[in-house]
Amino acid sequence: MNDRLLEETLYHVANGYIGVRGCFEEGHKGESIRGCYINGFYDTVPLNYPEKLYGFPDEAQRLVNLPDVQTIRLFMDGEEFSLFSGEVLGHKRKLDTQKGVTYRDILWKNEKGTFEIKITRMASFVHPELFLIVYSVKSVDFSGEIELACNINCDVSNFTDENDPRVASEKIKHIFMDTNKIVGDVSIVECKTAVSKLGLSICRQFVAGGDIAHFATKNGCETRIKSKILPNQSLTTEVYTILSDTRRRNNPTQHALEKLNECFNLGAENLLQGQADFLADFWMCARVDIGGCDELNDGMEFNLYQLLQSAGRDGISNVASKGVSGEGYEGHYFWDTEIYIFPFFLFTQPETAKQLLRFRLNTLDGARNHAIVMGHKKGALYPWRTISGSECSSFFPAGSAQYHLTGDVAHAFIQYYYATDDLDFMQYGLEVLLETARLWLDTANLGSDRKYHIHSVTGPDEYTCCVSDNYYTNRTAQHNLLGAVEVYARLKKAGLHSFASDKINFDESELLEFARVGNAMFLPYDEKLGIHAQDSSFLTKPVWNLDDTPKEKFPLLLHYHPLYLYRFQVCKQADTVLSHFLFEDGVSEDVLRKSYLYYDKITTHDSSLSVCVFGIMASRLGFYEKAYSYFSETVRGDLDNTHGNTKDGLHVANLGGSWLAVACGFAGLRLRKNGLHFRFSLPKQWEEYSFRVRYHGSLLKVSVGKESKVELLSGGSVTVFIDGVETKIK
Ligand code: BGC
Repeated sequence: MNDRLLEETLYHVANGYIGVRGCFEEGHKGESIRGCYINGFYDTVPLNYPEKLYGFPDEAQRLVNLPDVQTIRLFMDGEEFSLFSGEVLGHKRKLDTQKGVTYRDILWKNEKGTFEIKITRMASFVHPELFLIVYSVKSVDFSGEIELACNINCDVSNFTDENDPRVASEKIKHIFMDTNKIVGDVSIVECKTAVSKLGLSICRQFVAGGDIAHFATKNGCETRIKSKILPNQSLTTEVYTILSDTRRRNNPTQHALEKLNECFNLGAENLLQGQADFLADFWMCARVDIGGCDELNDGMEFNLYQLLQSAGRDGISNVASKGVSGEGYEGHYFWDTEIYIFPFFLFTQPETAKQLLRFRLNTLDGARNHAIVMGHKKGALYPWRTISGSECSSFFPAGSAQYHLTGDVAHAFIQYYYATDDLDFMQYGLEVLLETARLWLDTANLGSDRKYHIHSVTGPDEYTCCVSDNYYTNRTAQHNLLGAVEVYARLKKAGLHSFASDKINFDESELLEFARVGNAMFLPYDEKLGIHAQDSSFLTKPVWNLDDTPKEKFPLLLHYHPLYLYRFQVCKQADTVLSHFLFEDGVSEDVLRKSYLYYDKITTHDSSLSVCVFGIMASRLGFYEKAYSYFSETVRGDLDNTHGNTKDGLHVANLGGSWLAVACGFAGLRLRKNGLHFRFSLPKQWEEYSFRVRYHGSLLKVSVGKESKVELLSGGSVTVFIDGVETKIK
């Protein structure tokens, strides 16, 4: 794979709102995915089916590649700089996760002279609309004129690949320029998306070391900065670009201008310092230290930083499966957030976790509508993939049929409640829990065995679709039903239940139904093998021979028809094993172990959401070598491009999985109703490791080594369970 495309992802700068890929300012020769995005800023695209059946969505949303705001061309006495001309004496790139910036350092020469070019980029966490570039050119031995041309270019389109179902296939232009003008020193470009008619405003201003001139151009705006320089002199330019959009602001241009004014007055130095301060706070809670292994430490730091870059914090956006780093999966939000990403934020930045839940709360109407379309009389069914809340999945067997997502959302709300006891928020969150529980009531059927069964759903494993009684789904539904009863009771005791229950006409008799169905949920178990069956027919199928499958046939989804895959025992990703991680209560050690060993043999890990889970369960069961090898694969996933498609964006769920692998894997963290539980293990390759956890407003440091301990860094005392023993941390 083209390393440059990979680097564009790895060096992107983002802040959960905007994301700009790490392309070269001066442009590329050859392929590049020159991308700039706003989380949740989409266009609507028609979904065309030759045979369209009832309820298939008519349209989907697609993350829009926005006008290019990263182009800066550099001329020396009219001669253009490029890495593909002259002589490149040095070129280094760096991501600084402590300062929150990327750097490019270039030493370059042509027949006119030698130049040092230094470029710093930042997507501000403090002012999420701001993308800042500080561009500096120093002459080593050149005397003459330096000129910069900085563009906002609206002639852009999305990246497409006809041969990969994980990226868009047809070329459509999604964004058009409405106006472009220069007002004083400010360039203003206003755009609209083609079909969704969302508005975007881009405002830009410069601190320039030379003569400056602005132009409105055919496709946007251009600013030219000129200066004469001598050897040892530099020209430094600060480019302040603000992006604002109509999903968040009524008048994005006015907002962008106000923000621009604020940021411009603060100046680059203050803004960069603000970013470093923000990150110091972030790392205070998020830091993971692995003693004895720099490579893994770097990997962890990269991953956690990318999680921060990816997470929407405004309740309007969520965490796309690729963050804001690329166009894979078209910027959609999946269950990746609730199961893989949310826990990291819950335990390190609960405010962000709350915003992620607010997104689900804000899109509850979409989930209610989706339930109706899918034939339900009541309840809320969250769509498999979405941006604004409606279903965007055009392939229902591995899409809309994944009902478990609804239970995953409920699980996240319940975890939030356990970790924070934030009843103020939960009084609103209760609506989600009740509506999702109603969905299961409407979906499960009472069988002749007096158990409740769920038919025609797909579990997490997308190589096995539309089945009865997927263990993961049934277990998730059960947790949702019983969790709704529990949270309702707690809120009622606090007098905080009526906001939600009045709003949805909730009758307390429904709670009895929830409990009855939840307690009698069927959970498939195979006596002979002593394992939980993935679903009611899974174990009757032939086992796929993975050993004899040629390497080039992976991932299987790109080489076999789905129906062919569905007829075998072969898993794309963790399914029953994931359920055992999330819901261990009531499952014996023997079943946990046998199930793990069974599914480990038939899982391809073709999805990046898989290895971390197997690693966590391997730790849990004492298969330490295996746990370590899965962890190593997880932690370097994007850095080593193990799935071969990081060019399309990061695998954000896997990044979250690397934190889970340390906290829930090696340290055995589980959050239960009665508190935090740990079960420590230390990989033999490490001297020690530590991480931090926020719980009920306190900050704890968990250190595992020759001596393991949990310390209180701030807040009130906390009770935790270490190997089942209750311990007060004060
Ligand atoms: C996985 C899904 C996941 C999606 C987005 C698919 O390959 O099978 O579980 O939600 O990718 O990351």
